[in-house]
Amino acid sequence: MEIKQYTARYIISQFGNPRGFLGYLVGQAMAVKNRARIQWAVELLDVQKSDCILEIGFGPGLAVREMSKAATSGFIAGIDRSELMVRQASHLNRKAIARGKVELKQGSADKPLDYLADSFDKVLAINSHFFWENPTLSFQEVRRVLKPDGLLFVVWQPRWAKTEEQVKNSANKTSEQLSNAGFELTELKFKPLKPVTGICAIALKSASKHTRNSNSEVLTNE
Ligand SMILES: C[S@@+](CC[C@H](N)C(=O)[O-])C[C@H]1O[C@@H](n2cnc3c(N)ncnc32)[C@H](O)[C@@H]1O
Repeated sequence: MEIKQYTARYIISQFGNPRGFLGYLVGQAMAVKNRARIQWAVELLDVQKSDCILEIGFGPGLAVREMSKAATSGFIAGIDRSELMVRQASHLNRKAIARGKVELKQGSADKPLDYLADSFDKVLAINSHFFWENPTLSFQEVRRVLKPDGLLFVVWQPRWAKTEEQVKNSANKTSEQLSNAGFELTELKFKPLKPVTGICAIALKSASKHTRNSNSEVLTNE
């Protein structure tokens, strides 16, 4: 592999798992550059005072901070596979953590989630699910920890998309994964953002639908 290609791949991999000094810089850059997307995502969540919310892949922790301000009597939990991001986001949210309003820990969407079934009103993942090994299985696990009638918000900017057609294809692919995981897709939203359109898929864990999906696989700790 050419050095240029290797360097590009290494930098991209830092966004999927920030680590080391470059990961620190990536984390700082995300905290500045991703504000518009994060603000949009939190607006869509329409956080209620008593909401109990899980964020997967919180990065520098900006969305956690905004959600915890709005959920005045609620609770915000978060997991991220990057130890560096856990440290950075914990520093940003240190006051809310000290008050017991926020709990951030290292964890992976590729493994069973360390939460009881029916725990959360809402789950959020911003620009994270496309790094997961098997999004359908992870969405299935997210569905387990959501309360009946709970909502999953998957927000992302498909930076690889060169046309709006490709943005739509990306939205359709995620919608299919959500429905294969047993969710009802309630809405697909698009927002002009730089450098590429933002997408939000909102999916419902319907209280009236108790069946699991047809996919018999489950995530394991192996
Ligand atoms: C591109 S960053 C986005 C961070 C933040 N959500 C934002 O929008 O600014 C992706 C984040 O997802 C995390 N991540 C990627 N794959 C993950 C997985 N399988 N489980 C948990 N976190 C993951 C990364 O460590 C990183 O912090």
